Amino acid sequence: MTVERATRADLPDVERLLEREHLPLDGVRDHVETMVVARHDGRVIGAAALECYSGGGLLRSVVVDAQWQGRRLGHQLTEAALEMARQCELPAVYLLTETAEGFFPRFGFTAISREEVPASVQESVEFRSVCPASAIVMRKRLPR
Ligand SMILES: CC(C)(COP(=O)(O)OP(=O)(O)OC[C@H]1O[C@@H](n2cnc3c(N)ncnc32)[C@H](O)[C@@H]1OP(=O)(O)O)[C@@H](O)C(=O)NCCC(=O)NCCS
Repeated sequence: MTVERATRADLPDVERLLEREHLPLDGVRDHVETMVVARHDGRVIGAAALECYSGGGLLRSVVVDAQWQGRRLGHQLTEAALEMARQCELPAVYLLTETAEGFFPRFGFTAISREEVPASVQESVEFRSVCPASAIVMRKRLPR
């Protein structure tokens, strides 16, 4: 298994994974440059994407094929996305989740209110239209 940067050719597989896990597809194609995938025998079995805005990053589309869940791939993908955020010197990373608020605290994410999210991140497609108001918002601050 490898975790590496995604290419445009990975998008159909990533979208299939997202669909299967009922995660939003909208806007994901715009962020392939800051997307990572996990592969096994050349097949995409997991993904994570970071959207970069002036106020911080938005971690989205963290997904692992159901057959491969529970083998630390979610950890590796999340860490790889956070590393991209550090390299971009983003001050913080935000996420919206309805299904995995218990997964992200181990990486330093804590729940916050939507009002605490910078405007540039709130204007993202996921914030504006995809994730319902009931979704939990989380933030991880990154050291300067
Ligand atoms: C969430 C997800 C990415 C985790 O990936 P994974 O490879 O299965 O997770 P890992 O093997 O790295 O980590 C396993 C640990 O995470 C926990 N975990 C996994 N999914 C979880 C969830 N949805 N909520 C809370 N904890 C979760 C496991 O209980 C396990 O805990 P432990 O280390 O204390 O035993 C994966 O389950 C998935 O794709 N879920 C469906 C899509 C989804 O909800 N994505 C999040 C969108 S914001």
